[in-house]
Amino acid sequence: MDARSPALVRTLALMLARIHAAAFPPAYQWDAAAMETLMGMPGVSVLLAEGEAGLDAPGFIMMRAMGDEAEILTFAVMPPARRCGIGRDLLARCVGQAARAGVATVFLEVARDNAPAMALYCGAGFTQVGLRRNYYPDGMDACVMRREI
Ligand SMILES: CC(C)(COP(=O)(O)OP(=O)(O)OC[C@H]1O[C@@H](n2cnc3c(N)ncnc32)[C@H](O)[C@@H]1OP(=O)(O)O)[C@@H](O)C(=O)NCCC(=O)NCCS
Repeated sequence: MDARSPALVRTLALMLARIHAAAFPPAYQWDAAAMETLMGMPGVSVLLAEGEAGLDAPGFIMMRAMGDEAEILTFAVMPPARRCGIGRDLLARCVGQAARAGVATVFLEVARDNAPAMALYCGAGFTQVGLRRNYYPDGMDACVMRREI
């Protein structure tokens, strides 16, 4: 099947939405239609975590690269697969792919109260460069994080 075929994109969007629904509280979830729209945008790519044979990927990361900057759009690992290094590996692969594409700076937003993600990002060399107040639908602030690569 062609990598950009509508059927493949739809199947992938459904899988990403399933992971997102398991990983995030309702106010933060993106459905399959949102995933499909994002995947159709220029510069957007998705990396999947490797799952066990025959099973869906246990996680993914979605990035948009534009010139020498990239933004991590979303990033999730299924709860039963956490704390095994999957998130760290996905983030490292994503940063590596960005570097090979000529990206110099990677940005992302993370909810201020998301301690696991903050710990992961800080451990991977991201630093906070801004704060967006009331950014998320539940009113939570977002920390803007940046890493130079
Ligand atoms: C954030 C997330 C992607 C991490 O995935 P993961 O596969 O569990 O992460 P890893 O096992 O690779 O952990 C890497 C490091 O992150 C930090 N970390 C991860 N989970 C943590 C937790 N629950 N508490 C504290 N630190 C945590 C630790 O520093 C960890 O290193 P260590 O295990 O050697 O201590 C996952 O918790 C998740 O999907 N959360 C919900 C969605 C989300 O918040 N996405 C990011 C939005 S910006």
